[in-house]
Amino acid sequence: MNTLMIEKVKAIDLAQKYGTPLYVISETQIRRKCQEIHRDFLKKYPHTKAVYASKAFLPSAMCYILKEEEIGLDVVSGGEIYTAFKNNFPMDHVEFNGNNKTLEEIELAVKTGVGRIIVDNLQELKTLEKVCQSHNTTANILFRIVPDVESDTHDYISTGHKTSKFGISLENNYFFEVLKEALASPHLIFKGIHFHIGSQLLIIDSHVNATKKALSLIEDIYLKLNTEVEELNIGGGFGIQYLPNDPVHAISYFLNPCMTLIDDFCREHHLKRPKIIIEPGRWIIGEAGTTLYTIGSIKENGQVTYASIDGGMTDNIRPSLYQAKYHAVIANKLNESPLKEVTISGKFCESSDLLIKNIKLPLVETGDILAVMSTGAYNYSMANNYNKQPIPAVVLVHDNVHELIVKRQTYEDLLMQDIIPKRLEQV
Ligand SMILES: Cc1ncc(COP(=O)(O)O)c(C=O)c1O
Repeated sequence: MNTLMIEKVKAIDLAQKYGTPLYVISETQIRRKCQEIHRDFLKKYPHTKAVYASKAFLPSAMCYILKEEEIGLDVVSGGEIYTAFKNNFPMDHVEFNGNNKTLEEIELAVKTGVGRIIVDNLQELKTLEKVCQSHNTTANILFRIVPDVESDTHDYISTGHKTSKFGISLENNYFFEVLKEALASPHLIFKGIHFHIGSQLLIIDSHVNATKKALSLIEDIYLKLNTEVEELNIGGGFGIQYLPNDPVHAISYFLNPCMTLIDDFCREHHLKRPKIIIEPGRWIIGEAGTTLYTIGSIKENGQVTYASIDGGMTDNIRPSLYQAKYHAVIANKLNESPLKEVTISGKFCESSDLLIKNIKLPLVETGDILAVMSTGAYNYSMANNYNKQPIPAVVLVHDNVHELIVKRQTYEDLLMQDIIPKRLEQV
């Protein structure tokens, strides 16, 4: 068949029914990933837990899929906490990250019973303690550390280096001062250590290096304070396939080396092995997403042939933000041979709004449906209204069923929050 299928549905039928640009998500693919995590991590290694990094993609429907698949949620904002809570997500399976949690967000987390708060700094610790005190309750906390490791990814998505804005430095004994405050508080229950070193990592070395740092800290905590670290959260960041030649890594590729290291270290150092928690986002949702666009104007400037789409940096900001690379096909010419190199240009008023530079495609014609692959993560969740562009709809496909899970914004929606002062209206 010369047409792209998403599960058992023709991509061109989805484009016709729901319009473009359109985010299409394969539910089977999400569930397959969750089940792989169960089989090759949670069941294989006892005393483990997986939470999905909801920043990657969190329409309400996602909460229900994850709940059914028994995967928890990692959140980083009041909005994400609210989404989980409103959709009856079990809040004890929610973990709250972030480097500048506001007082309101901390209160919301405490009131809704968020299971773990990953504390980023001393000020936050003090605020959290006050909030718990005023609600006469306790909070389970982990400390996010700066493991001081380099990651093989773009600087903008690297988070474990010495000067990162995330986490607590391990230099000059500072971490221990913060930890002692927590241990002295009747409202804070210290559970463990957290790190997250970056995103879209395709080699495992930096996870292994950070795990080594965390293990030696865990030993230090035991030796200096006689305190057992119950949990170690090793974050997310597990990379996926964007381009045809990118490697495809099973979850075991990332986790087996870390688990072997942890088990060996704990045995050799006579430490109780902490519960190990992971926070994958992209690995669960990235490859489940395809974005459909309609090709509009086509032109040649200099040596470059531009094929413009009806979307771009407002629905997928990653190429403009950090030169992320994507692969695409023409959904209605799937089996036709690539003929010519074109650059897929977005329609927005920035020169950086180029979705894919120099991709070989079959003859591109106005009206063709372009399908950009692996757009499930950090596309819809980073969408914006630049140039007053409505955010596209999201359709969930399961076998031969397709359902809208997020409505397309309308022009009316764009004006919803606007207020015109009376004095201006009189003009
Ligand atoms: C604290 C934390 N955990 C997990 C993730 C998920 O990363 P990824 O989607 O690459 O798995 C992120 C992403 O930035 C993060 O900041």
